[in-house]
Amino acid sequence: MAKTLHLSSEEEEVLAGTEGPGRQRAMEIVATLGRIYGAERLLPIVHAHIAGVSYKNLGDAGISFLQEWAAEGAQVVVPTTLNPMGLEEARWQEIGFAPEFALPQLKAIDVFRQMGIRPTMSCTPYLFSEYLPRVGAHLAWAESSAVVFANSVLGSYSNREGGPSALAAAIVGRTAAYGLHIESARRANWVIDVAVPLRSIADFGALGYVVGKTVGNGVPYFRDLARWLLPLPPREQLVDGSPAVDRLKTLGAALAAYGAVALYHIADYTPEAISSGKEIIAPDARHLRVDSLSPALAAMDADPDVTAIDLVTIGCPHASLHELALVADFLQGKRLRTKLWVTTGRITRQRGLEAGYVQQIEVSGGMVVADTCAVVAPLRSLHIHTMATNAGKMACYAPAHSGVKMRFGTMEQCLQAAVTGFWPVSDG
Ligand code: F3S
Repeated sequence: MAKTLHLSSEEEEVLAGTEGPGRQRAMEIVATLGRIYGAERLLPIVHAHIAGVSYKNLGDAGISFLQEWAAEGAQVVVPTTLNPMGLEEARWQEIGFAPEFALPQLKAIDVFRQMGIRPTMSCTPYLFSEYLPRVGAHLAWAESSAVVFANSVLGSYSNREGGPSALAAAIVGRTAAYGLHIESARRANWVIDVAVPLRSIADFGALGYVVGKTVGNGVPYFRDLARWLLPLPPREQLVDGSPAVDRLKTLGAALAAYGAVALYHIADYTPEAISSGKEIIAPDARHLRVDSLSPALAAMDADPDVTAIDLVTIGCPHASLHELALVADFLQGKRLRTKLWVTTGRITRQRGLEAGYVQQIEVSGGMVVADTCAVVAPLRSLHIHTMATNAGKMACYAPAHSGVKMRFGTMEQCLQAAVTGFWPVSDG
């Protein structure tokens, strides 16, 4: 029998427009999604995260839509953050972005500011201590790599929202109770055995490719992945990043990009796998054994004939403070021959400045670029034709979104390419 969405009297009033057209429009979106997906009620959320904010995605029509909504009095009522936009606000001229792109982009961000949204411009809201959600917190996040991290590593609850639906949820402070907000949907329907060593962030991206391609939007349960991960740091230090945080954010991003995974579990490691044990696996779960990463590495290293690299990019999802430290350490005493962007959130960049990592990277000739990334920035206008990355998601999206040829490898290979200008010849 079809389920009926029941709204509280307060929610009905918002829907009827008694609190103004901005909130009414938002409630219409949230309630419509609830009806489509069979929700019986709405849930309060503690945080929203809005994606699709680059002018590349929004275009003029998107900005007009946002301006109209803001003019209707739309204001967010929960802490709300923004995904990367198409440029770095502080240095867009220095980097070489054209005013024709920059000015409308900055206008869009101003509209978000008017609505009360914090302009964090990062895909890793979980790396900012004031937004780190708690186990069991309900969220409306619209960045697939962040959603999978929140659900899997933090034990919070979010569906993969679209940009407008996350904004609507932020304006009414509610989302519809369906999908991953419901316990029963969080059981694993795939059991994964990984029979290959995982030695780098790049290997975790490659694993995300193999598993994502197979399970699609399923929920994988990794039976033996913890042996390739150091323990997670205590909650208050998660925001610094760590070898485990950096690997898991890359794994999730690739699972979400090559499949549509929004939640995974790791035996004896992630919160729900620990609290529920084997109960977290559905009885009819299917099985996948990963014996090789070679097909993934071959697909992601899409243009092996390319040797000269225009841009090396590290930080997809946005680099943690720990990754800034790794890059700074590698580059000590070196000069770069090609462009290096270490992309990160402005909050992490500021922390990196305080720690001296940003200065170390930039004195070598690299840039720690805030607010954007090589997928959402208009790279073609910067004359970037070839790129190298250690991130599975970047290898998936940049060729299509930014028209570049792609080399994929470890962070060390990428940084070596930045030092010499050429992709390093492999030993084997
Ligand atoms: Fe973030 Fe851009 Fe990668 S938004 S997840 S750095 S493609």
